[in-house]
Amino acid sequence: MNWDQVQQYVLNISSHNDPVLLEMEKEAEITGFPIVGKAAGKVCYLLTRLVKAKSVFEMGSGYGYSTAWFAMAVRDNGGGIVHHTVWDETLSRRAREYLSRMGLDRYVSFTVGEAIATLRRMKGPFDCIFIDIDKDGYPEAVEVAKDKLTPGGIIIIDNVLWHGRVLDGAQRDPTTEAIKGATQMLVQDPLYITTLLPIRDGLLVAAKIG
Ligand SMILES: C[S@@+](CC[C@H](N)C(=O)[O-])C[C@H]1O[C@@H](n2cnc3c(N)ncnc32)[C@H](O)[C@@H]1O
Repeated sequence: MNWDQVQQYVLNISSHNDPVLLEMEKEAEITGFPIVGKAAGKVCYLLTRLVKAKSVFEMGSGYGYSTAWFAMAVRDNGGGIVHHTVWDETLSRRAREYLSRMGLDRYVSFTVGEAIATLRRMKGPFDCIFIDIDKDGYPEAVEVAKDKLTPGGIIIIDNVLWHGRVLDGAQRDPTTEAIKGATQMLVQDPLYITTLLPIRDGLLVAAKIG
């Protein structure tokens, strides 16, 4: 058994038949756009259901693939809002189109802008905050997210394995350091129970106690 076989197995058990999600996955395959993919998407759905989240703030939403998983969870939790935030107008518009085709746009609020600044401006609190922005921004994103999270809520961060670079002590580039720093901010905070799920490129999951 090796890493790729395990990842493929998780992908296999994360299959779905949603035609729009499948189209979005196809687009990522063709263009190389870095969506979370169906295995991590399903984990996001599961965690959002488990904490019964009604409000989700998503940082770095792209054309709405991860947003769709969060919006399905919020819908299935009885309704609420997912904040889609990306600084690119075209991606925001395309996310709107995709989510409206899925009948999920009523659960999504779209903001074109820098995600950390947008979250800072929002009153919150949010039951779930998902971080998938440019990696150098992770420590600041975590700092702001901590202040905006409901007690009992969760922070999910994508790419915390950074394709294995976090395991290599010789890697001292600022991006790897930022990811490791953000991870430690949550791991060492006694207000959070934090672990890493080794799905795809690694999802850090931190639950705020109390
Ligand atoms: C990794 S992709 C998001 C993929 C998305 N979460 C998904 O799985 O479908 C990150 C996106 O957020 C944008 N982005 C990166 N840093 C950002 C920031 N600080 N504020 C707003 N958007 C950002 C990128 O340009 C890109 O479109």
